[in-house]
Amino acid sequence: MSICFQPIENCSKTQPFAECIGIDLATKFDEYTISVLKNGLLKHGLLLFRNQKNLTPEKEVVFNRAFGWHDPTQEEFLFGFGAPTLEHKVSGGAQIPEFPQVSVLGNAFLDNYHGIRNTRLKPVLGFTFSAWHADGLHDMLDGMPELTTMYNPTGWQTSSGGATYFTSGVEAIQRMDSELYRELSCCTVAYMRAPNDTYPDETRRVTASPSFMTDEGTRRIGFGADPDNPNAGITNFKLKMEHADNGGRHPAIRAHPQTGQASLYITPGKAVYLLDTKTGVVRHGIDDTARLLSQALKPSAEPGVRYEHQWSEGDFVAWLNTLVLHSASDPDHIEGQRLMHRVRLSTPKRHHSS
Ligand SMILES: [Fe+2]
Repeated sequence: MSICFQPIENCSKTQPFAECIGIDLATKFDEYTISVLKNGLLKHGLLLFRNQKNLTPEKEVVFNRAFGWHDPTQEEFLFGFGAPTLEHKVSGGAQIPEFPQVSVLGNAFLDNYHGIRNTRLKPVLGFTFSAWHADGLHDMLDGMPELTTMYNPTGWQTSSGGATYFTSGVEAIQRMDSELYRELSCCTVAYMRAPNDTYPDETRRVTASPSFMTDEGTRRIGFGADPDNPNAGITNFKLKMEHADNGGRHPAIRAHPQTGQASLYITPGKAVYLLDTKTGVVRHGIDDTARLLSQALKPSAEPGVRYEHQWSEGDFVAWLNTLVLHSASDPDHIEGQRLMHRVRLSTPKRHHSS
């Protein structure tokens, strides 16, 4: 059977995402297959592969390295892409010792799972806290992962909840009014400083709780008092412009280097302010930035527009962070045992740190 791409059931027609059928990812694939899949990822942004019952952590890593987006020199894989602190390493998930590129997430207790022993997985964040993002965008300066994959292995099936939400950053631009598009095209987002692989330094951390989000997870209204309890309210942490000092700086709209497609590339919950990409002058302060980014993303984040992927055993989803934004749903809606694998490898850095 040859590989083909078809619309995903229950996915809005206004999303370009596709289900890829006719391939068993556990088998070895040749150069031609890799090019078909790579073109599929670039065209659709997100590919869903169902019934991948025999996928192993090793094969997941093979898939993530197949397209040449990763940094072959990456050696640290804490939390997938090199967050340096123990806190990041254990924030809800665990890593497979033999394949540290693979993080294991969910709510299950692992007695001995691929060598992960005596570990209780804890779902964190979700839609209320942190919401829409691209992996690495808000906590890395450079080398953000192009590709992320998630896999729901055989034997682990929630009875409900635990969906992952996706929306195309490319289509988000089509839904945006032209004046807002022109404005954001000139803007670079200054993100909160956060520890990452370039600066393994706790002084770069903003110690607010996770961003507390409203408007379909597109607008920050404060910082959650308790990341385990969405009803606990908001802390009195006051974000200031200086919290973006030494933080990531990334354009709000990014043209994909391989396709030229412009895509909305933002993590609203971690944005501090917008500056002019050419001059570096601040164009919008904290409140204005939260408002503008929400205005840009909200039409694409609404129920019925966003794709809500309900996970089944054997589902493997691969997406490009530069073309697709995503969010976890609220973890308190999860019923039953959840266990997922996630891989996201760093891309080569443009500038090597000394
Ligand atoms: Fe993510």
